[in-house]
Amino acid sequence: MATKLPLVESSVSLVGKLAVVTGSNTGIGKATALELARAGARVIVACRSKDKTDTAIAEIKAAVPGAVVEFLALDLASLVKTRAAVATLRAGPAIDILVNNAGLAGSKGTTADGFELTFGTNHLGPFALTHGLMDHLVPGGRVVVVASKAHYRAKGINFEAARKTTASKTGVAEYCESKLANVLFARELAKRLADRRIDVYALHPGVVASDIWRSLPGPLEHIAKLFMITTEEGARTSLHCATSPALAGQTGLYWDKCTTRYPSRIAQQDDLASELWRRSEAWLQAGG
Ligand SMILES: NC(=O)c1ccc[n+]([C@@H]2O[C@H](COP(=O)([O-])OP(=O)(O)OC[C@H]3O[C@@H](n4cnc5c(N)ncnc54)[C@H](OP(=O)(O)O)[C@@H]3O)[C@@H](O)[C@H]2O)c1
Repeated sequence: MATKLPLVESSVSLVGKLAVVTGSNTGIGKATALELARAGARVIVACRSKDKTDTAIAEIKAAVPGAVVEFLALDLASLVKTRAAVATLRAGPAIDILVNNAGLAGSKGTTADGFELTFGTNHLGPFALTHGLMDHLVPGGRVVVVASKAHYRAKGINFEAARKTTASKTGVAEYCESKLANVLFARELAKRLADRRIDVYALHPGVVASDIWRSLPGPLEHIAKLFMITTEEGARTSLHCATSPALAGQTGLYWDKCTTRYPSRIAQQDDLASELWRRSEAWLQAGG
């Protein structure tokens, strides 16, 4: 049997580093948090449900004796709650690694602030979190944005639709658009953090057997997952981007299977990336 490479290179020590991983009580995020803890980082698992997260923290601590892993309440579908999480983080030490992992798919509705639910949760919440932490990141640190190859299917960003409830029947179109927003956001963020040598990475984690498929009918979800990679494998590119010394300075790019790939042509439009940034900032200033 082929020997599996470690998820974090064995030469990398994260002792003394602070990592924040959103949506890390399950799925790709939990596997990411576990491996960052295993490499020695203090890890903040930023999640909605304390009960569900306490279970995940107990699992991580059981797998990594001595791990320092803490819960932070974070609901990305609420700008007020996201700002509260920013304030809590800013009261602590500066952050070395921020992994914007949390996301949802196949849901319909609006966020607490009236944004389309998927766009609000997958783009605007993470934008608010990262924006509030930009000057609280350690120079030389990293921001990882878990996007998706689903972004290739988006034809653009419909800024008007972002302020309304989900228009499509399945929420898939909104998901693809939110993931395009992730790639554009990472591109613009990389430029804005370059002078402090903070590197930014957008990525596709693979097609992963996580809870994200929960909106599929039960038997279909079960069968589909047989053909997917594990959550541990799904964390590989996030961890590579978050920790590999070889990637230092390779900022603003899109990654898949630990390799750079061209994102869609729309995702390479600098004017759209800066427009998304400007509009997102305006939404935050307007209070949502
Ligand atoms: N699985 C795949 O095949 C795949 C493919 C491409 C990209 N991705 C991306 O990978 C990332 C992780 O997904 P996953 O597959 O690991 O899915 P998952 O198992 O469903 O985990 C998603 C995480 O996001 C959290 N989350 C959802 N809404 C939130 C909110 N309003 N505030 C804070 N946290 C919230 C969830 O928290 P709760 O437990 O509270 O719901 C959960 O911890 C997502 O960004 C997804 O788009 C996944």
